[in-house]
Amino acid sequence: MDRLTTLTQHIRDAQLQHPGASGELSSLLTQIGVAGKLISSKVNMAGLVKIRGSAGTTNIQGEVQHRLDQLAEQTIRDVVGRSGYVCALMSEEEEEVIEIDEAYRGRYVVAYDPLDGSSNIDYNVSIGTIFSIFRKVSPGDEVTKADLYRCGTEQVAAGYIIYGSSTVFVYTVGQGVHGFTLDPTVGEYILSHEDIRLPSACKVLSVNTCNGPYWSAWVHDFLGQLLARNDDQKRRLTDRHIGSLVADFHRNLLMGGIFLYPEDARSPKGKLRLMYEANPLAFIIEQAGGSATNGRDRILEIEPEWAHHRVPLVIGNSAEVELARRCVLAASGNGSSESEA
Ligand code: AHG
Ligand code: MN
Ligand code: MN
Repeated sequence: MDRLTTLTQHIRDAQLQHPGASGELSSLLTQIGVAGKLISSKVNMAGLVKIRGSAGTTNIQGEVQHRLDQLAEQTIRDVVGRSGYVCALMSEEEEEVIEIDEAYRGRYVVAYDPLDGSSNIDYNVSIGTIFSIFRKVSPGDEVTKADLYRCGTEQVAAGYIIYGSSTVFVYTVGQGVHGFTLDPTVGEYILSHEDIRLPSACKVLSVNTCNGPYWSAWVHDFLGQLLARNDDQKRRLTDRHIGSLVADFHRNLLMGGIFLYPEDARSPKGKLRLMYEANPLAFIIEQAGGSATNGRDRILEIEPEWAHHRVPLVIGNSAEVELARRCVLAASGNGSSESEA
């Protein structure tokens, strides 16, 4: 029988690579895992305990909040917010940055999407929690903008918890990407996906094609080049799009694929948020051997304008991300998009 490794053991071993580390980041990640267990148990009972459906409120994004959105939000505030390791929380569900009471304040800032894929909650489709962790940089106790609006390259950790056929905790601290499956009978995350590497072949295309009428020209060029790979010899690319970013991303990470939510006439800046969707997944995909861009820039180098900064997102196999970049450049009159791939 393979040696069993728990999430806590793995995080501690990773932290031991950093002599002098206080262990606070390890403890913070473990607490995020605890929040994930609590959310997972509620997600898996949603149909039984009357927490499906809309909460009748809208969030800062102008999106209808689901009861599970609110429950996930409250769970993270209670568990992570009072862990003693964070000084501020930035949530998709809250316009303002959530400052932490002095009694519980720590050295880390956590940006998170408490429940990604909300539109799928009532239909038993996989959803998830996405998180991004920064270390406070300003001196003293006060939390400043310098601590909050940081480039993705400054993340010390990032990950997600996907609530699907099983609950899987995936994280990176810059030493590769590792996945842990929750054993609900004992409430422990067990290492199930060690050192995840993005497969070299791009097998999956994941995009909401019903946004086609709103897309910029480059998107049609890009998709046309990808679909041209399928011929009477072989279907090299298949379409899989769930509408939960975290689930589309997780499948592509394991299968090899490209996900895009480009800017369009309805969302000129893109729909997805930099701080708690694009950045954490970009950190993970780069650690697994892939890339992430907004069409021009590396996602991890984009300077956030505010907590809910939206960006176009193309994320997955590097060759296809580069092809997307060439299509954008060609559409703006710089060069040809002809794929070298
Ligand atoms: P959230 O549920 O956190 O608001 O995120 C939903 C996002 C993302 O999960 C998904 O890829 C995208 O919205 C789907 O948007 P469309 O329905 O416009 O395709
Ligand atoms: Mn989301
Ligand atoms: Mn969400």
